[in-house]
Amino acid sequence: MSLLRIPARRAVFTASARRAELRPTSFRKYTTAPPPPPKSNTALYAGIAAFTAAAVGYYWYNSSSDSSRDATTAAKSAIQASKAAVKLTPTKEDYQKVYNTIAHILDEAGEYDDGSFGPVVVRLAWHASGTYDKTTGTGGSNYATMRFEPESLHAANNGLHVGRELMEKVKQQYPWISYGDLWTLAGVAAIQEMAGPKIPWRPGRIDGVASNVTPDGRLPDATQGAQHIRDIFYRMGFNDQEIVALIGAHALGRCHSDRSGFEGPWTFSPTTFTNDFYKLLFEEKWVWKKWSGPKQLQDKKTGTLMMLPTDYVLTQDKSFKKYAKAYADDQDLFFKDFSAAFAKLLELGVPSQQFVASEPWILQTLEEQKA
Ligand code: HEM
Repeated sequence: MSLLRIPARRAVFTASARRAELRPTSFRKYTTAPPPPPKSNTALYAGIAAFTAAAVGYYWYNSSSDSSRDATTAAKSAIQASKAAVKLTPTKEDYQKVYNTIAHILDEAGEYDDGSFGPVVVRLAWHASGTYDKTTGTGGSNYATMRFEPESLHAANNGLHVGRELMEKVKQQYPWISYGDLWTLAGVAAIQEMAGPKIPWRPGRIDGVASNVTPDGRLPDATQGAQHIRDIFYRMGFNDQEIVALIGAHALGRCHSDRSGFEGPWTFSPTTFTNDFYKLLFEEKWVWKKWSGPKQLQDKKTGTLMMLPTDYVLTQDKSFKKYAKAYADDQDLFFKDFSAAFAKLLELGVPSQQFVASEPWILQTLEEQKA
């Protein structure tokens, strides 16, 4: 836990100090106000080539008559230096390696919950991004502020230390990755490895400081109704269709009475991404659970599944219901819409010039890499 409290800059400039020093300054500087990075490696190469050409030209202009050999040497060493610098810039392949490490770790859950850390990591990625406020431009995944108190202690984030501590292991192995990139990439890996749709993703988030922490109350309260859901998600910039698609992530994982107070899984396959959440919402009869905990519903037939009051609202509100029904009937449509909405969620609060690629990438699953 103590590692999580190391100020972002110190963490970056310890283990990764050498790499950071050698990284071209036109990439990410790990400050809160980075210069616009190049849109792609092509732009980076072009920039380096232009710099090299200028440097050689300057040398040539200022050197004495017998300096042609020296100029050639200078050109060679400038090219070598630029190649070395480029080599240290993380590429798509480097991020694929991080993805693979995460994917393996998610599976090493043993007796934890349903045998996978996937669901809690999806929740970490969502809570790290869902603090965004489009009016003020604050919050979102950019600064990974859940590392700091009081955000780490906000009641909505109860239990997410499990995901953060897990990701700390990955961070040790790849110290150059920012926490925001790491947590969102983990969400992508978890969805894809649990048989969900491909989620377009790209790096570029930077580590912020404690003063970037957002106030409590930005994440949804499961005891509330349709108006509250809209207030929370419209603030992030989502519409009704996107809201319904995103909540379908409740096909995964479970509620824990020692975290949120609620208890139980939504589906019979909580480590596989499906449209079962919507199917069950419409196909089962839901009754209020009789217990001393917070108000939640249980399926009448087995009494083993649960729905939160906010989940049930998706069958009651006319506009939400239209989309929920469509997703219950068509898993492909759900996968397509979830992918788009989740990709959008993970980029909330990240200035577009920070992204290292103009288009998001599609990373491969472990299974695809075997083929
Ligand atoms: C109205 C909106 C939402 C509400 C009120 C809500 C509420 C909750 C609550 C109370 C839990 C149980 C936490 C625990 O006890 O461990 C939970 C779990 C979870 N939520 Fe949501 N959620 C919402 C939207 C979302 C969205 C948009 C996503 C992702 C796109 C998501 C993904 C998850 C996942 C994967 C879990 C399971 C975590 C685990 O198994 O540890 N939720 N949510």
